[in-house]
Amino acid sequence: MKLRHPYPIIILISAICLLLFPSLTSGQTCQRTCGNQILKYPFGSDPGCGDPRFQQYVTCDQQKLILTTHTGSYPVTNIDYSNQVIYISDPSMSTCSCTQPSKGFGLDWDAPFTFHDDTIFALLDCSVTSSPIYTLDGLYTDGNNSKIPLCDNEGTPICSFLSNCRPISTINLPISTCCIYTPVDFGPSFEMDLKKLQCSSYSGFYSFNGQETIPENWKYGIALKYKFNVNNDYPSSCARCERGYGVCGYTGAYNSFICNCRNGVNMSTDCFFTASYNNGLRLFPSKNGIIP
Ligand SMILES: *[C@@H]1O[C@H](CO)[C@@H](O)[C@H](O)[C@H]1NC(C)=O
Ligand SMILES: *[C@@H]1O[C@H](CO)[C@@H](O)[C@H](O)[C@H]1NC(C)=O
Repeated sequence: MKLRHPYPIIILISAICLLLFPSLTSGQTCQRTCGNQILKYPFGSDPGCGDPRFQQYVTCDQQKLILTTHTGSYPVTNIDYSNQVIYISDPSMSTCSCTQPSKGFGLDWDAPFTFHDDTIFALLDCSVTSSPIYTLDGLYTDGNNSKIPLCDNEGTPICSFLSNCRPISTINLPISTCCIYTPVDFGPSFEMDLKKLQCSSYSGFYSFNGQETIPENWKYGIALKYKFNVNNDYPSSCARCERGYGVCGYTGAYNSFICNCRNGVNMSTDCFFTASYNNGLRLFPSKNGIIP
């Protein structure tokens, strides 16, 4: 008897296996890491993951976590989940090792972030003749149309330390054209618009790293704070979801909470039910992928 072609049988067996073990076919949509950065609520790797308010600003692009604002895209260098701080770098920012022109940095007015108090900006190489920092018709005026200084006088020592950095000293920066600008002065537009301010570059850092006089060792970048909600409570539904190795996400027109489980199934509560089911039984998710 002629042996019949074995492939159809193999395909049939594979199909049965895939039906019995859906975890082999559907992986977890929402990733728990992006590159080497751990992802937890409120951040998410993909649309539908994390908190919808954050998803449009922080995305995982080819294993790189990126914060996007109207001024550009910025790599996320670290997330401090316990203190709710996200750290970003700006490739156009000047540091002690390089100076370069920049347009500045701004947060979108509706972004769920605020500047962390530790963030200090130094505006560099501002035009003494035309910058509103130095002219009387400044950007910020009180009722008398008199100038409110934008630069923080307490910051003058920071400018003199920065001017010791070789690249900053070689642009021959008079110390008077360095201005320490604290985020609290950003004004209603949440924006450091260097074109408007007539400055050619800026530097930003969030820590002296214990060495206030050595700008080489400062931690350059921008620290932003975030809140979960008005009361800043970690949502209990999400905490429960994460305990079962799920990832918090949202779905539908009302951004309803979902827990994205390891086998790819979405639950409206947590993953403990799917975990116990995983050893052979088949779950049939409803049309929108949610099991109540
Ligand atoms: C205007 O100037 C006067 C005198 O310099 C000052 O007392 C007053 O507080 C100023 N008004 C405002 C709105 O700042
Ligand atoms: C589960 O939710 C995620 C995020 O909302 C979505 O991308 C995915 O398609 C859903 N999975 C299923 C099986 O519906």
